[in-house]
Amino acid sequence: MFSNLCRQVAPAVALVLLAPTAQGAETIRQWQFAPKGESLELALREVEAPAPAAHEVAVRVRAVSLNRRDLMMAEGRYGRGGTQPNSVPLSDGAGEIVAVGANVTRFKVGDRVAGIFFEDWIDGAPTAASLATARGGNSGGMLSEIVVTDAEGLVAIPAHLTYEEAATLPCAGVTAWVGLFKRGGLEKGDFVLLEGTGGVSVFGLQLAAAAGAKPIITSSSDTKLARARELGAFGTVNYRSNPEWQNEVRALTGGAGVDQVLEVGGQDTLPRALQALGFGGHIAIIGGLSGFASDVPVGTLMGLNATASGIYVGSRADFEALNAFLAEHKIKPIVDKVFELEDAPAAFAAMEGGEFFGKVVIRL
Ligand SMILES: NC(=O)c1ccc[n+]([C@@H]2O[C@H](COP(=O)([O-])OP(=O)(O)OC[C@H]3O[C@@H](n4cnc5c(N)ncnc54)[C@H](OP(=O)(O)O)[C@@H]3O)[C@@H](O)[C@H]2O)c1
Repeated sequence: MFSNLCRQVAPAVALVLLAPTAQGAETIRQWQFAPKGESLELALREVEAPAPAAHEVAVRVRAVSLNRRDLMMAEGRYGRGGTQPNSVPLSDGAGEIVAVGANVTRFKVGDRVAGIFFEDWIDGAPTAASLATARGGNSGGMLSEIVVTDAEGLVAIPAHLTYEEAATLPCAGVTAWVGLFKRGGLEKGDFVLLEGTGGVSVFGLQLAAAAGAKPIITSSSDTKLARARELGAFGTVNYRSNPEWQNEVRALTGGAGVDQVLEVGGQDTLPRALQALGFGGHIAIIGGLSGFASDVPVGTLMGLNATASGIYVGSRADFEALNAFLAEHKIKPIVDKVFELEDAPAAFAAMEGGEFFGKVVIRL
């Protein structure tokens, strides 16, 4: 879809539509999911610059990153409410605060921040209301030069990270953190299975390696597996040339099986991941790259005395815990491709094409 979409919208400069603005009002550029017949297309629009209310801040967004979810959002097949027409894409972004509302004490102008994935999920368990505040494709999308947001819906970004690196954290980084540490209780020496070399899995690799665990990662590409070894992979398996990859993963653990899995593959990988799981292991149910799995293998889980956790990103407190760990270990997220604001459709196409390792970023 996005290769088509990319062709439709290039050159991007032809796309700038002027929304009606008050005389002399300051304007900004933002991409929107614009209705096109029954489907959606990306449209670059110039709109009036938003101003913060008393509890809000305005962020000059400097970088955003893409997640698999954003492709689903663009196709209108994500979430119960679907994608809202003329909403701003992307959940993940980082930038600097340029204006603060009268009641804001949490941040000041000039602070470097990233948006949290769910603008209102601060700590503890989520609620239906807090989950409804996921950014991108409904309200609060980050692919906009200025974003106005509740001051509570931001975190300070670690000093050692650029905006481009920090923009990769809100969805993929927090998900990997929650799956391994908060829900999985990762310990030094644990064997960790990571599927493919996309955003969540490469974060999982970096976090597990930094914690002294033994990450084993799969990929369809030997070149990407070589990159994974440079990042500290204990073991690598090509799932394309070795369709029974779970046997090799188990062999790499000496036969005992892995202690942790970040299960992002879904229906094709879940049964195999369970064959690679050891007694007492933990499997974080995260994604559906091959289609979402629907059968819970109760016998296998009981027999292994294993734990399965459903993960839906995490809270602001989880993001802050991730940031503390990144700062302590000086971990730099892997930004593989960077596009300019005008080339956002090409970034979506790159995400769809799969020829990347880690994260795809757009600079604003
Ligand atoms: N529940 C949550 O909170 C949450 C949060 C984030 C993401 N997710 C979900 O988790 C999944 C991963 O997200 P992401 O953003 O990390 O994806 P991504 O960055 O787009 O990952 C793409 C990579 O996944 C690998 N891959 C594709 N199909 C695979 C398969 N059948 N088996 C193994 N690897 C496969 C490929 O790696 P190689 O090129 O190396 O083969 C591909 O390059 C998605 O389904 C996403 O919707 C869920």
